[in-house]
This record gives sequence, structure tokens and C-alpha cells, in this order.
Amino acid sequence: MSDFTGQTVLVTGATGFLGGAVARRLADEGAHVRALARRPNADSYLQGIPRIEAVMGNLTNAGQMRAAAKGCTTIIHVAAALGSNLAHQQHANVEGTRNVMQAAAAAGVGRVVHVSSIAVYGYGYLTDVSEDTPQQPGNVPYNLTKSQAETVVLEESVRTGVQYSILRPGMIYGPRSNGWTATMFKLGKRKPTPFPGDGSGSAHIIYVDDVVDLALVLAQHPAAVGEAFNCASDPAPTWREFIGGYSRLAGHDRWLALPVLPFKLIAPLVDVYFGLRGEPQALSHLIPFMQARKVYRMEKARRLLGWSPRVSLDEGLERCAVWLRQEGLLR
Ligand SMILES: NC(=O)c1ccc[n+]([C@@H]2O[C@H](COP(=O)([O-])OP(=O)(O)OC[C@H]3O[C@@H](n4cnc5c(N)ncnc54)[C@H](OP(=O)(O)O)[C@@H]3O)[C@@H](O)[C@H]2O)c1
Repeated sequence: MSDFTGQTVLVTGATGFLGGAVARRLADEGAHVRALARRPNADSYLQGIPRIEAVMGNLTNAGQMRAAAKGCTTIIHVAAALGSNLAHQQHANVEGTRNVMQAAAAAGVGRVVHVSSIAVYGYGYLTDVSEDTPQQPGNVPYNLTKSQAETVVLEESVRTGVQYSILRPGMIYGPRSNGWTATMFKLGKRKPTPFPGDGSGSAHIIYVDDVVDLALVLAQHPAAVGEAFNCASDPAPTWREFIGGYSRLAGHDRWLALPVLPFKLIAPLVDVYFGLRGEPQALSHLIPFMQARKVYRMEKARRLLGWSPRVSLDEGLERCAVWLRQEGLLR
């Protein structure tokens, strides 16, 4: 366990899934947490917790970010726009990150942990990916802007001297995850569970507490400065093991392998449709990507930081079950 006693830490994205978990853990470990929120009362998950204070601010407002960063020792920059068109995501993810880095410089913040994503590598790699694998995000707005945000972190660090560390999580599941827990559970609950193919490709998942753990290590470890780290299961479970785990929570083990060919045929049309809407997607690449057996390698975190993910898939799913029951999704 790390110790943040006496430190003031700004957490952006604190009203979201990962940021909320980061804020709570930091408060547990003695930090005074400034939880960035865009709207009053948006921080209900954090209300009433000692040492967590909500501060109003939008990433896209440089003045608000400067005010939020004043007096902070560390910033954990979790916030991002995960959907919508390129202009919207560029504004929040790229220019917003620039505002965070410049606010950090103005406030004399000791270190910024920037939460990025394995999305920066794009969907093209069908073999193992390590941190020095070149980024090929393509034109999917999320992947592209997360990659551009990393460039901004580097540029601003060179220009201002602010120390940084970059965290690249895989698909984060756990309590309060809409995408990789609530939605995947609803899919797994379907009996049989429909999926394109036999589900033997790798699912690049990571339990939320492991991501929080690594974020806190990156905030303090001397070897983390100026470095980027993957954060995903290595070895990775298959899609069938991951979604099938949710099926087992729902009381069955039946899988319906849909033929992949129709998905492959329709994918380019779907890509054209979204391209015309100004929100490019890469379904044509995503299908082979999801069928590949590969890992986002964790060797660098093991070697430089002595850190590895701790929560096994079985344990993670058990912890999700508690939350799914609380939410009334699992009986
Ligand atoms: N979830 C995953 O599987 C996953 C995987 C890899 C990387 N990541 C990265 O992890 C981070 C957190 O993801 P998440 O799943 O926790 O997402 P989330 O639940 O959607 O939370 C996103 C947070 O960002 C805030 N935000 C968005 N735009 C903002 C802006 N312009 N100004 C201030 N705050 C803004 C949101 O505030 P509001 O509450 O006001 O909307 C929310 O607090 C992101 O950087 C994401 O790229 C996530």
C-alpha cells in the first residue's frame, strides 16, 4: 500500500467509473483529493467521504484547470470523452490534456499520471504488443485522440519540465463499469450467449482495482517518470472465458458461435456508414483483432516497478457479482 498522507491530489474524471475508484483509494491512503466534476452533485459516489472535495471544472477551460491544480502535489488525469465525433474528442482529450499539463506546470505539480489506453496501438496488431510497439491508432476518433493526447503530454513535459507517467489500460471491468461489466453481463446472461465465432481470441481485460493500483504506483515510483506502461491481463483470457464467466454467474455455460463471415462482409459497409456520419469506426479491423491470440505485455511494469496485476478473472468476476446483485441485475 502506498502512502499519500499530506498530499493534495487532483483527480480528473472523478465522477466516472475509473476516476471515482482512483479518488476513493487515494482518500483511503491519506490524500486530500480534489475530485474534478463538471456539474454540481455529479459526484454522488464520492459525497460524504472524508478528504474528498469536489471542484467544479471542465478540461476544456484552461482557467478552471489552473484553479483546480493550484496547491496540488500530483494530478491523476483520468477524464476523457469516450465517444462522439472527432472534434468533440479532440477538444476534450487533446486540448483538455494540454490544459491539464499547463495547469500542472503553473502550479508546480510534482507529477502527472496520464490515463491513456491500449487503444493508442490501434486494431492492426495481431501479435503481442509492448510499450515500444509503434502507435497506429488509425482514424477512429477515440484511438486517435488518445494517441494525440500522449504526444501532448510529452510535448508539454519537454516544454515545461513537468514530470509525467502514462498508464495504458486494457478493457477495464469491475463494479460500476457499464461497458465491460453491466453490458457484458447482460450478453453473458443470454442463454445461449451469441458471439461472432468460438470466442477463442484474447480479451484484453483488467480489473479496475489493478488499474487503480498501478495509477498510484506511477504517481510515486521514481522509475515511472517519463515512461508509459501497459495495464492488461498477461496472459490474457479468451473472450469465451471472460463472457462465459458472466454466463456462469447467470447460471449457464451455453455459447452460440455465430458464423464470422457475415460480420466480415457487413463490416466495411458499417465502416462507410459511420465514416459518413463523421464518426469513423474500424469494424473491419476489429473482427480479426478480436479473433487474435495475443497479449499487451506486462513485462515492463514487472521489470521497472516490480508490479503485476493481482486480481484473477475468477476473483474479479466474484467481486462484480456482488455489485450486479446490488444493482438488481443478478439474482
Ligand atoms: N473503461 C475502459 O475500459 C477504459 C479502457 C482504457 C482506458 N480507459 C480510460 O480511462 C479513463 C476513464 O474511463 P472511464 O471508463 O472511467 O470513463 P467514464 O466513466 O465515462 O468517465 C469519464 C470521466 O471523464 C469526465 N469528462 C469527460 N469529458 C470531460 C471534460 N470535458 N471535462 C471534465 N471532465 C470530463 C466525465 O465527466 P462527466 O461525469 O461530467 O461526464 C467522467 O467523469 C479515460 O481516460 C479512458 O480513456 C478506459
